[in-house]
Amino acid sequence: MKAIAATTERTLWKQHVREWLLSSSDKASSTKKTKLKMKLSIILIAAALGTACISAKAVDAKENWEKTCSKCHGPDGKGQTKMGQKLEIKDLTDAKLQAELKDEKALKSIKEGIKDSEGKIKMKPAEGLSDDDMKALVAYVRTLKK
Ligand code: HEC
Repeated sequence: MKAIAATTERTLWKQHVREWLLSSSDKASSTKKTKLKMKLSIILIAAALGTACISAKAVDAKENWEKTCSKCHGPDGKGQTKMGQKLEIKDLTDAKLQAELKDEKALKSIKEGIKDSEGKIKMKPAEGLSDDDMKALVAYVRTLKK
């Protein structure tokens, strides 16, 4: 529902901007230029705000990481926690590990959890996170690389 509303809102917004841009066409050409410039700068500001929204998402991933993942992996991803040591967690900041770990594999591990060769659960599947949240977490894990 939220996603549909957001899409409709975006479409309406685009329409609005288009009408707005076209609305200056019957004015004198010098004012037209100034107006167009103003409109373009407003669009640029809107675009910048859009980018700000994307970075707000990165904050969410950090929050999720700290809430659900860091008790094992540690806030820095090195796995130097009690749980991490017990589970012999690998260092997620390791560049070699990061290079070998594919996004799909990381996503699958977060989504479905990880079991050892005897079927014992090492990492539980993430609970209460959307696909987007999990993808954002994969991206967040990438930022931990040293
Ligand atoms: C109960 C402890 C625990 C929690 C909580 C936990 N993990 Fe893990 N995680 C593990 C273990 C154990 C492994 C396997 C690691 C290994 O072999 O080093 C692992 C591996 C991973 C890997 C590497 C995946 C792979 O396929 O090699 C990623 C990425 C990862 N965890 C991300 C997360 C994220 C994101 C969260 C939070 C949603 C999370 N983990 C929460 C214990 C945990």
